[in-house]
Amino acid sequence: MAEAIPATISGQPVLILKEGTERTRGKDAQRGNIMAAKVLAEAVKTSLGPRGMDKMLVASFGDVTITSDGATILKEMDVQHPAAKMMAEVAKTQDDEVGDGTTSAVVLAGELVSKAEELINKDIHPTVIVDGYRRAQEKALQVLNDIAVNVDSKDKETLRKVAAIAMASKLVSESRDMLADIAVDAMLQVSQKTAEGFKADVEDVKVEKKPGESLAETKLIQGVVLDKEVVHSGMPKRVEEAKIALVNAALEVEKTEFDAKINIQNPEEMKAFLDEEEKILKDMAEKVAKSGANVLVCQKGIDDLTQHFLAKRSILAVRRASEKDMEKLSRATGARIVTNLDDLKAEDLGYAKVVEERKIGDDKMTFIEGCKSPHAVAILIRGGTQRFVDEAERSLHDALCVVRDVIRDPRIVAGGGSVEVEIAGQLKRWAESLSGKEQLAALAFAEALEGIPLALAENSGLDPLDIIVELRASHEKGQKWTGIDATECKVKDMMKDNVIEPAAVKQQILKSASEAASMLLKIDDIIAAGKSKEPPGGPPKRPGGEDGSSEFD
Ligand SMILES: Nc1ncnc2c1ncn2[C@@H]1O[C@H](COP(=O)(O)OP(=O)(O)OP(=O)(O)O)[C@@H](O)[C@H]1O
Ligand SMILES: [Mg+2]
Repeated sequence: MAEAIPATISGQPVLILKEGTERTRGKDAQRGNIMAAKVLAEAVKTSLGPRGMDKMLVASFGDVTITSDGATILKEMDVQHPAAKMMAEVAKTQDDEVGDGTTSAVVLAGELVSKAEELINKDIHPTVIVDGYRRAQEKALQVLNDIAVNVDSKDKETLRKVAAIAMASKLVSESRDMLADIAVDAMLQVSQKTAEGFKADVEDVKVEKKPGESLAETKLIQGVVLDKEVVHSGMPKRVEEAKIALVNAALEVEKTEFDAKINIQNPEEMKAFLDEEEKILKDMAEKVAKSGANVLVCQKGIDDLTQHFLAKRSILAVRRASEKDMEKLSRATGARIVTNLDDLKAEDLGYAKVVEERKIGDDKMTFIEGCKSPHAVAILIRGGTQRFVDEAERSLHDALCVVRDVIRDPRIVAGGGSVEVEIAGQLKRWAESLSGKEQLAALAFAEALEGIPLALAENSGLDPLDIIVELRASHEKGQKWTGIDATECKVKDMMKDNVIEPAAVKQQILKSASEAASMLLKIDDIIAAGKSKEPPGGPPKRPGGEDGSSEFD
């Protein structure tokens, strides 16, 4: 139902909304939103778990992405419907907060909305459902807290298992043990103990990728890798005991922004002019050399002539490094980023044992190893094709994130649907203490949680209903970690099976999914502004137009 004119007074229409505005109200609005959320959840559901399928996403320019990462699928799908956009945001929040569990969050949100639809059809008001969901979510978080197992945040073995499970559901799962080792070593190296506990940031691990060789060649590098080559062929390709200058200024003669004319009357003047330019460019190289630097990383460009003079001085130089790389290099080597070459002094220089350009695949990259700071690490991902290394990077990102999650909040739970079934069981028992309609909502929440093991079972080719009955029975007997082993396709104790995940991920799934579902359910009116009909560049100009203004006043 769409309307532009919502009211009339004695036959006279009263315009409230702009022309072209679409308005959908009441049950229609709800149904539309619920439908959009369900469709999206269904779409990602088949990619949940180790037996889940991947999606091939083709962008409008023909770029192809192959992934099973929930957040990436929804981002690349570029959905239109506002409710579908909210679901995509759930995945994004999940990704930003904990880095894993994006598919689960969207599936759970879809289940919550779909269970709510059944209740709405039974004439239960959405606000009652939302209240029930809120209480159920609090209880679920409490149960999760009770059953989560404390671990040692420096225990490599645990961290490795968590990292491997995060990658179990990805294209790279064959090599997950090797990648898990790399992820754990990298994360432990950048983590630091502070007064409030351990601090670890995924951003501190620099991840570079290059197609070629195979995934097995993926390596942890003690230092920083720049996807840049040494600028001049005459420069050394390897410098030991490197003294590194970081410069954020162009080593070029800058062109002025305004037009200037130089009147040259004779060849001598021309020569003088060129000599002067050469002198300026040479001076730049001299300034770098004077500071004692033997490596220069420049954020801007370096003129060919300056490159030549730097090469003469045996200085290895790299240009157009990104701001992020400069900051990372500064932290890693202890160098100060200098914006004015005249300020460059010996004490601004950073240190690394070796700086070397190496040929990786078709390209050359610069490795800065053995840095001053022991916290500098990088990972160089290799693999058959560009698409494969892209997906490997996303998977490694998930692994780094879950390791970080456990370092920050050292509590784990078992996966394979076990934690969801346990929480659902306890919720159902607790719901008995609630009054009529709220109880129904809490039960619906519990059933929605079972949507995760159901999806895992379905994706593993098992009969979901048989499995859920078996799981419920096992949990009622007090075996709180029984879940679905997707590799052997049967019901097992997931904790013993080493299918473990950070409690923080499950916590965030519960929070973001129920928040999004509640938000969607409370909407009963969608007012969408009409599409702007103006051509790009604004409305056509009318000299002396209706508003009484002209171009000239
Ligand atoms: N070996 C396994 N057996 C059973 N279930 C597993 C196994 N490994 C992982 N899982 C389960 O798979 C689910 C995770 O699947 P997946 O990684 O595809 O989705 P996600 O983590 O929710 O989202 P994403 O990784 O896309 O951000 C979790 O519920 C986890 O417990
Ligand atoms: Mg995952």
